[in-house]
Amino acid sequence: MTKVRRLFGEDEVAARVEALAGEIVGNIGPDFTMIGVLKGAFVFMADLVRALDRAGAAPRIELMRLSSYGRGMTTSGEVRLIGNTPDDFEGKPVLLVDDIVDTGLSLSYGRDLLTGRNARKVWTCALLDKPSRRKVEIAADFVGFEIEDVFVVGYGIDYAERFRHLPYIGLVEESG
Ligand code: IMP
Ligand code: MG
Repeated sequence: MTKVRRLFGEDEVAARVEALAGEIVGNIGPDFTMIGVLKGAFVFMADLVRALDRAGAAPRIELMRLSSYGRGMTTSGEVRLIGNTPDDFEGKPVLLVDDIVDTGLSLSYGRDLLTGRNARKVWTCALLDKPSRRKVEIAADFVGFEIEDVFVVGYGIDYAERFRHLPYIGLVEESG
């Protein structure tokens, strides 16, 4: 059976997202294009844009879909772009937003893709960071929580497409 144990509750996540929005506006300013990575970042994005509004920003919103995981708990190591890349940034800075930086392959792939499309400056943000798992050297500019090498779900993040709907972030525990 698969069980989920709570790691960060709703209130804790909400407080961190609010603070993160302040850090982002403090560094980038109020005017930028935010690009969310699907599917994992969809809940984080939705909360972050509203926190950014309260922090005084008016970001434009774009989405792009990257895929690296199959149905398991480990990355395939190969990042693929599904569909189109946003490429009209109107000379504004770009904030690339993902759910988790793990090996770093997705975030560096996304960043390089946008830089190749003439983004002036690409900032990166991830709700969760697992620094011990890096395969490529990349540090997100804005991080919600640093975590150990554990597998998490909820708040948009899945295990084999399950658990994205959970309002909190939890640890997956297989038993029996
Ligand atoms: P990276 O390319 O290895 O850095 O992996 C980034 C992507 O892998 C994230 O955007 C997630 O979609 C997925 N991922 C990494 N760790 C986890 C996890 O603990 N649970 C669910 N998905 C994860
Ligand atoms: Mg992802």
